[in-house]
Amino acid sequence: MRLQFQSSAKLFVLFWFIWWQFVESQVSNPLPKPARALDATLQDYAYRAFVNPRTGIPFDGIVPPYLTGIEISAMRLRSGSLYRRGVQTFKEFMIPVGLREQPYVERLVLVYQNLGNWSTTYYSLPGYNYVAPILGLLAYNGSDLSASNLPELDLWASEEPITIKFGRISPVPVGAVAKCAWFDLHGQVNLTNLLAGNVCLTTEQGHFSIVVKSAVPRVPAPPAAPESEPPKHAPSSRKNEERIWGIVGSATGGTALLVLLALLILWAWRYKKRKRMRELERAADAGEALRMTRIGGMRAPFALSTRTMPNFESDFGL
Ligand SMILES: *[C@@H]1O[C@H](CO)[C@@H](O)[C@H](O)[C@H]1NC(C)=O
Ligand SMILES: *[C@@H]1O[C@H](CO)[C@@H](O)[C@H](O)[C@H]1NC(C)=O
Ligand SMILES: *[C@@H]1O[C@H](CO)[C@@H](O)[C@H](O)[C@H]1NC(C)=O
Repeated sequence: MRLQFQSSAKLFVLFWFIWWQFVESQVSNPLPKPARALDATLQDYAYRAFVNPRTGIPFDGIVPPYLTGIEISAMRLRSGSLYRRGVQTFKEFMIPVGLREQPYVERLVLVYQNLGNWSTTYYSLPGYNYVAPILGLLAYNGSDLSASNLPELDLWASEEPITIKFGRISPVPVGAVAKCAWFDLHGQVNLTNLLAGNVCLTTEQGHFSIVVKSAVPRVPAPPAAPESEPPKHAPSSRKNEERIWGIVGSATGGTALLVLLALLILWAWRYKKRKRMRELERAADAGEALRMTRIGGMRAPFALSTRTMPNFESDFGL
């Protein structure tokens, strides 16, 4: 009997663990994994552009055919000269003096990305429309130009911010306010004010674009690039559905487990009581003195000198 109770308890813990894991996985998955995988692919292809690498010159790379529409470029720099001189222009980016990286490397490579018509595929921002493509600027160790799967260095502007001057942007609907959107490498997005119609500032690396809030009554906004419409709404409604099913699923699982837990406690309690009664009967048979006492608000016979007095609370381990 005792063994059975212990294994039930173990089973319960197992159930609880599985349920908890399930609920955990429902909560959120903040890492944009496809976007990070894309960064790794683009780093690899950008490095291949360095056929005859010269410092401080941008080299445009060629993306694999399945990513047609994305532009990449790479620039190799000595980190000392990057810090002292900055980079006048690297595509849409203007990099001031004072750029620092962590961990320190002697040479680094800045990889530029323009996701073009792939922007909304990799960086969906529900409730907003893009009026410019996603641009990326990421820093890597530049010592080994045949390396792939490199981690990004930490890069930040310690004096003035980096300026991003977007070229031609789609017209902003009348009455809407355009904002700069910055995605950091963990998928966190931060909206800041747009300057001079198409300029954003940043002190860190990441992915950048210009967004406007989508109109509340969902009319197909004519200025928004047509390719940005279909991939935006389809996944978000699917995501909503998934979320609802997740909530229903965890609520059902939770209720079932509560019932299971209640039954388990009830069963254990009755088992304990029966066992004690049996012990008391045995004690009575042996001629030991009995007296009535209160146990948990219930009158029950109580043996004064039962040697193995079971401890009601601590035996459950709950
Ligand atoms: C982007 O455009 C290219 C052609 O320029 C096309 O091959 C590719 O499939 C498009 N990507 C998306 C996500 O629509
Ligand atoms: C950069 O790459 C070189 C060559 O692979 C390596 O020796 C060095 O340790 C790397 N530096 C950092 C900070 O990872
Ligand atoms: C977002 O930007 C604002 C303004 O620059 C800043 O105060 C805030 O800390 C930023 N939030 C994150 C999460 O970076």
